[in-house]
Formats: sequence, structure tokens, C-alpha cells
Amino acid sequence: MANYTGELPLASAPTLKLVHPTPKEKLDMWTENWKVWGTSLSLEDYIERETHLADIPPTRDGGVTHWILTDPTLPPDARPVLSFCESLRRRTFVSLPSGEAQEGIVHGIGSVFCAPAYRGRGYATRMLSDLGPILNTWQKEAGKSHFSILYSDIGKKYYTSMGWLPFASSHVSLPPAASPATNGGNGDKAEGVKLLYEEDLKELCELDESYLRNEVTKTAKSTNKPAVAIIPDQSTMTWHHLREQFMCSKMFPQKTPPTIHGAISTGEPGLRVWIIFSRVFYGPLANVKSGNTLYILRLVVEDETDTDENAQKLKSVLQVAQAEAKEWELSSVAAWNVGDVVKRLLKRTGLEYKFVDRENDSITSLMWYEDGKGDADSVEWVGNEKFAWC
Ligand SMILES: CC(C)(COP(=O)(O)OP(=O)(O)OC[C@H]1O[C@@H](n2cnc3c(N)ncnc32)[C@H](O)[C@@H]1OP(=O)(O)O)[C@@H](O)C(=O)NCCC(=O)NCCS
Repeated sequence: MANYTGELPLASAPTLKLVHPTPKEKLDMWTENWKVWGTSLSLEDYIERETHLADIPPTRDGGVTHWILTDPTLPPDARPVLSFCESLRRRTFVSLPSGEAQEGIVHGIGSVFCAPAYRGRGYATRMLSDLGPILNTWQKEAGKSHFSILYSDIGKKYYTSMGWLPFASSHVSLPPAASPATNGGNGDKAEGVKLLYEEDLKELCELDESYLRNEVTKTAKSTNKPAVAIIPDQSTMTWHHLREQFMCSKMFPQKTPPTIHGAISTGEPGLRVWIIFSRVFYGPLANVKSGNTLYILRLVVEDETDTDENAQKLKSVLQVAQAEAKEWELSSVAAWNVGDVVKRLLKRTGLEYKFVDRENDSITSLMWYEDGKGDADSVEWVGNEKFAWC
């Protein structure tokens, strides 16, 4: 990576701009931030993953944008990269109390990074302060952005000071467990539950999207506040699953990467419960401190009522998740920001679980581009679940 030999510029210097890195600058950044985020992979595998993830269907053709803060009057590849991040584009529904849900886009900021040699000088703050307003109109040909998001792993203060305000950031955590549903690999034969494979997701995601559109409109009307949702579409699930497939191929070279992507209770459409999940690895296997987790990307209860039948359905799909967590050596199963009905159903399942309110990591944060404060009291975020993470 190019280093300044002279004095470092002030973060406020007008010569500094937000631009896109060259391929070499990107490589240099990944090499640097591998030291923070790559501990479960070799450097070579980490770079292979980042390169791969920038060139898959959901991110190709502008789905991901890389940003750096630098002095663009200096020659590319020889200028200092003072800070780095990326933004991922996702689809949204936004509804005002007086209207119907309209489709738009959101940019989610990820991989915010400043090399150790440049830290504490305000460069990342400058990059993000410039980026916030840019994302309001970035790729506007793809749709209107009413807000942008990020997930802070450094607490609530830093990003709040720049206008990304904290929203609900809790999850329910369950231990891995052998389950009657997948025990012995005959999961499809288990009663009351069916495993979900790649080919099952399109139809369910489309159905979920139609439910969510109505829910966003309804929420805006009933709360008299703007309501927003990121759409849990198949493309978003694919992004998670390709990442998972890559990680599993490296972490378990002797195993075929997982094909089970979720579980659904059997029975009538309109009365089902389903989950779509993904296995996420942060560090070495067999080390609980790694925090390797099976995340429930999305949980759908079609008929949101607090009944014994629904509790049984929820239990049967969660048991699949627990069994998959055990199979892939993950330390827990996590479902983000479950609603009140699910909380009540969970109690009836008899499963062991705990609630966690996160204060430091994955703090869901939103910058609002429309009228009003845009904090968690004035904007309703519907379906704030792990699938939207970036
Ligand atoms: C976080 C990071 C991007 C900040 O870059 P930077 O250019 O040094 O940031 P700025 O100079 O604009 O701001 C410095 C402030 O960042 C905040 N900050 C930095 N790291 C922090 C951490 N781990 N926890 C909480 N706050 C932190 C502090 O408020 C700090 O102020 P201080 O120097 O008075 O303590 C950089 O430390 C980094 O790359 N860290 C490793 C990767 C990472 O954790 N990224 C964030 C993922 S959400």
C-alpha cells in the first residue's frame, strides 16, 4: 500500500475526495483488512472470497460499489488510501401513512476500514460524512433511496454522530442440538416439516415479498409514521448463500457445501411457518469465541396468531436450524428482532433459548433522507432481520 512520506493531510482538506479504488487499491485494502476480518481464512482465500463476492449475480453490474478517501490529484496506485468502505444496493418498500408501499432502493454500507497507520485522524469520519449525502441519489436510475443503512460493530456512538441512528438490535439465541427433524439425514421424512433447498426459495421469497408490501402499508397507517422494509428477495438470499458456500468449502474441504437453506412446516399455504438460514463463520471452528453462528436470515409466520399449532410449527423449523448448527460446528442459532407473537410462541415451544440485546456489534443503523428525525421512534422498520445485513 502506498504510504505518505510527507505530512499527512488534514481530514478536512479540500484536496481529499471520495473516489472508487483501482483493482490494485482494492487488493491492498483487502490485504490490510484481512488482518481484522479474515481470521478464519488464509490471506489468499480471503482475497479470493472478496473478489468472488464482488462478481456474483447480486453484486455484479453495480450491486456493490467500493469507495476510498484519497487525494485524486495524485496518481492512482501511488496515492494513499486514507479510508475504505463499500456500499451494497438492495430493494426496499417505503410507505407514508397517507399512501401505499412504493418500491425503492437502499445502499447498505459495509467494510468500513482505515489502515492502522492512518487511524485517529478523522479520515473514516470524513469518508462517511461525504458518503451519507451521496448515497441519497447514488444509482438513482435504479430507484429512489429514502434512507441508507449500516451495521456497526463498534457500538452506537460513532455512527450516530454522523447521522446513522441505532434501531432495534436484539436477537434470540438457541444452542445447537441434534434434532428429530434431520437426525440420520432423513429430514424430509420428519413429520410436520420439510427442508428447503435452493429451488424452493424463489416461490417463497416472492410470496414473502407480497406479504411484506401489505405489512409496510398497514404499519404506516396504523402507526401514523413512515414505514420501511428491505425486501428479503431471492437475490439477497443468494448473496448470503454464495458467501456461505465459499466459506464452507474452505472450512470443510472434505465436505460437500450445504444444500439445506431452511425449513418449512407442512400444511396449507396461509398457515405455514418457515425460516431461511445461512451458516456464518468468523473464526476457527471448535472455538466458541469465534462466534460462528447459524443465522436465521428470515422468519415468516403466515398466520401470526399465538396458538399451540403455530408453536409446534415454529419448534419444528427451529429444530432443523439447531441440527444444522450442530452438523456444521456452529456455536448457536440466532434470529434477529423477533416480533411479539414469535416471542410468545417461543415460550410455548419448550426449547431452550435466550434473548440478547446487542450494545456493540451488528447495531442496525439508519440514515433518513426524508422529513422528520428518522430515529427509531419516528420511522418503523418492518422485518429488520439478518438477511438485510451487509
Ligand atoms: C473504525 C475505524 C474505521 C475508524 O477509523 P479512523 O479513521 O481512525 O476514525 P476517525 O479518526 O474518523 O474517528 C476516530 C474515532 O473512531 C471511534 N472508534 C474507532 N475504533 C473504535 C472502536 N473499536 N470502538 C468504538 N469506537 C471506535 C472512536 O470514537 C475514535 O475516537 P478516538 O480516536 O477519540 O478514540 C478504524 O479504527 C478501523 O478500520 N478499525 C478496524 C475495522 C473496523 O472495526 N471497522 C468498523 C466496522 S463497523
